Amino acid sequence: MERKLIIANWKSNPATEKDALRIFRGIVAGVRKAKAEVVVCPPFVLLSALSHVAGRMSRVSLGAQDVFWEHGGAHTGAVSPEMLANLGVKWVIIGHSERRRLGETDLDICRKVRAAIAGGLKVILCVGEPLSVRKKGISVAEQFVRKQLAQALACIPRRYPFPSERLVIAYEPVWAISTNRKAKPDTPENAALMIAYIKKVLRSRFYILPTVLYGGSVNTRDAKGFLAHPGIDGALVGGASLKPKDFTAIVRAVGSR
Ligand code: PGA
Repeated sequence: MERKLIIANWKSNPATEKDALRIFRGIVAGVRKAKAEVVVCPPFVLLSALSHVAGRMSRVSLGAQDVFWEHGGAHTGAVSPEMLANLGVKWVIIGHSERRRLGETDLDICRKVRAAIAGGLKVILCVGEPLSVRKKGISVAEQFVRKQLAQALACIPRRYPFPSERLVIAYEPVWAISTNRKAKPDTPENAALMIAYIKKVLRSRFYILPTVLYGGSVNTRDAKGFLAHPGIDGALVGGASLKPKDFTAIVRAVGSR
């Protein structure tokens, strides 16, 4: 892909709209000249406030961190793709390991991917192996990720008009994200090998060639190594995306115009 894509996943932060606006404005100002495309994914309740700011500043778009698969109706607590699209939200993260850990199944994920695309959103689908799988070797990890991809896309009809630009994959080795206490960093070379494998699987099985991001932890020191790698199309950044200075330094590691 030509321009790298960098996603800020704020997870369950910050607690106030005031802080969200401060962080968001800091990011918008900091990435003005960056060569990357930037998406900020705050919690649902902050999307509306940020959409008023994002609407006037098109360089940074908004994403949600989850979505429900029904398009409305009696589903207490659920947020539909249409609700998000009507707020001006363009993207949604689906299948993050932190949601899978809470019990989200492959079938849930598949329904969400299908509904989000049908509702006009672009999907960032997260896949990645836990440490216990990685310890069994690269080919076991590859098979694990291959199965996650197959199951996440299994309910999508074969003939579905599935343009590659509507699906982005984030490869998050679960052992390399900061919420994992035993987290240790991956290397750009390692990550690029799995990303190449993901692209191969999607090309041969699904005839699509999506953007594939690195979703393990990145910080201001190691971002350049990941983002400069020609096989890595961008990054999904968690903790560091709540600090505008750090996040903009990561985005600027891609280079500026
Ligand atoms: P982190 O999160 O950057 O805080 O490790 C990454 C992720 O959850 O994808």
